[in-house]
Amino acid sequence: MKLTNFKNALGTPYFETDSILIYNMDCKEGINAIKNSGYRIDCTITSPPYNIGKEYENKMDITEYRDWLASIVNGIYDITSDVGAFLLNVGYLEVTHRGKAVPITYLLWDHIKFYLIQEIIWNYGAGVACKRMLSPRNEKILWYVKNAHSYTFNLDEIRDPDVKYPNQKKNGKLRCNTLGKNPSDVWQIAKVTSGENRSSVERTDHPAQFPTDLIDRMVKGFTNPEDIILDPFIGSGTTAVSCMNNGRKCIGFEIREDYCDIICDRLDQAYEEKREQESILSLF
Ligand SMILES: C[S@@+](CC[C@H](N)C(=O)[O-])C[C@H]1O[C@@H](n2cnc3c(N)ncnc32)[C@H](O)[C@@H]1O
Repeated sequence: MKLTNFKNALGTPYFETDSILIYNMDCKEGINAIKNSGYRIDCTITSPPYNIGKEYENKMDITEYRDWLASIVNGIYDITSDVGAFLLNVGYLEVTHRGKAVPITYLLWDHIKFYLIQEIIWNYGAGVACKRMLSPRNEKILWYVKNAHSYTFNLDEIRDPDVKYPNQKKNGKLRCNTLGKNPSDVWQIAKVTSGENRSSVERTDHPAQFPTDLIDRMVKGFTNPEDIILDPFIGSGTTAVSCMNNGRKCIGFEIREDYCDIICDRLDQAYEEKREQESILSLF
């Protein structure tokens, strides 16, 4: 599928390259425009607002929030190809009289149409220290597909080389896969940190930036080269950076113009770094 088809449906982007289109737009509007065009995307990778009072959120009543998020997820379902996938990263929120740290996934079950393959736990080391409950150190990634029997899973692309007994043999043959082991459904990947002397190299001014390593694993494992990947809440542009580095195409929607400017700077820099790397490799 060509990206220009989507550009015809969505209009002039805020930022574009041959493989990336970024729109300063409410994702509902963008998803509707794609739906009406009849073009379909291969995969969506995203992290929506969690309705916890971040600077980019208009806090909603819990039912309103659930209905808003479910309607976006169902819109994504409608524009996903028959063998496409949806990777949804979500955390927790407080539900008055019901729970302090309720997984957002609990709200969505029964309200969306995708088939759930499994829940992946993203586990990280740093975070807030709590006194009256356990300190939260994980978020979820829901791996949804449209067709329970036909979907992309490139296990060899994401195998974990950290194998305990790599030379163990049975009947003279190596027991484990030489590419590594299945990375399991618990992924230990460091968060993007901020602060003096501890800020991650990739840190931007966006307050909720994904680590690129996390997106890289999803892009490599659940999509194929040249696939079209959508991020309807693209924030600082991490999904687009990963797509650029892994040979996928990306469409991103971001409602705030100041964040779109962060994305433009970030993608310009990522493009320069990629070109430098390619020119070094061409010397060999
Ligand atoms: C959790 S952040 C995403 C962070 C992103 N994964 C990253 O790595 O930077 C959610 C983003 O969605 C944006 N947003 C909120 N409502 C939106 C909407 N209706 N349409 C498009 N973007 C929206 C917010 O401004 C925010 O940047």
